[in-house]
Amino acid sequence: MTFRIPLSRPSLNASDRRAVARVLKTNTLSGGPALAEFEGAFAQYHGVEQAVGLASGTQGLILALRALGVGHGDQVLIPSFTFVAVINAVWAVGAVPVVLDVEPRTWNMDMRAASRYQDAKAAIVVHNFGMSIDPLEIDRLQDQHGIPVIEDACEALGSRYAGHLAGTRGRCGVFGFYPNKPITTGEGGMLITGDPELADKIRVLANQGRKAGQWLDHEEPGTNARLSEMQAALGASQLARIEQLLARRQRVAEWYGKVLVDVGAVTLAPQISEQAHAWFTYPILVDKDLRDRLQVELAAKGIQTGRYFPPIHLQPVFKTQATRMDQQPINSEQLAHSCLCLPLFPELRRREVQDVVAVIRSFLSHCR
Ligand SMILES: Cc1ncc(COP(=O)(O)O)c(C=O)c1O
Repeated sequence: MTFRIPLSRPSLNASDRRAVARVLKTNTLSGGPALAEFEGAFAQYHGVEQAVGLASGTQGLILALRALGVGHGDQVLIPSFTFVAVINAVWAVGAVPVVLDVEPRTWNMDMRAASRYQDAKAAIVVHNFGMSIDPLEIDRLQDQHGIPVIEDACEALGSRYAGHLAGTRGRCGVFGFYPNKPITTGEGGMLITGDPELADKIRVLANQGRKAGQWLDHEEPGTNARLSEMQAALGASQLARIEQLLARRQRVAEWYGKVLVDVGAVTLAPQISEQAHAWFTYPILVDKDLRDRLQVELAAKGIQTGRYFPPIHLQPVFKTQATRMDQQPINSEQLAHSCLCLPLFPELRRREVQDVVAVIRSFLSHCR
């Protein structure tokens, strides 16, 4: 089904196309200057020492767990309300996910509940929808409770909390560049860290267990999670205008906020004053019974929306794998049943936002 207003759309321009075409005029399609440039620019943007380009955000999470020594039977803390890649990464290394609820104030993992699991080998904290987590909470988990934190910033490139960019506070931060993300490489990901040893380990694991400069010597089991030169060139070109892309997302979010504020049955995402939100999408909450019907109505009018995210612990796959629940994640369940994500991308126009909200307003007024 094609939609007149899609949920997301990558922002591609002539510089992006030229950047990819330049690579195609060379014979270096992997492991060349474009990757080095993208990694360097990404590290610089985040003010960290190391950035490692990878095949996807999911690979970033898997390799981060492996590099931190997480393996068979180890417990890893994760939130229930997020994308399934998080739990898949934990299962991929044979570890046991401990699923925690989210806080209604932030929609992110309950960090106080997390601190009860002193024997956890790691925590994957997710900056859901670009709403970033207080870095002091990350410090507390790592420094006071000794639990290494992997920040999943796949939806949060450019999000800040009290000025701190998402992904920069844990042992490492992981990003994804699927086409719905603030910058895209088609598929792709990046891991950042201030720890050169951890970065080296990730590079080795992502390259079939080879050390730098080796080709047929493999010292440990690895995989292929490399980012190609074409992807890296596109990523670097997109990153060069990140501030413009984020500003446009912010502008769209402000338009939504203004026109939705008086729509009674709609609750907006939490606004915490310390957060500068990168707006991965525009999530709203609508009464559970109306949410699905509203989605159908919007689709009938050519507007695509997303019911993000069904709680991880209610997915059929959950029953088939080793897992542990903290307590019944009622906040996650409530959010998942009422959250509807509205279209948001840099080129979305003001009249399209007004159009989306007019459909919502009209539908909800008829349901009263
Ligand atoms: C929170 C979160 N984690 C991980 C991922 C996985 O990223 P990728 O699709 O690049 O593997 C995504 C992707 O959408 C995500 O939203």
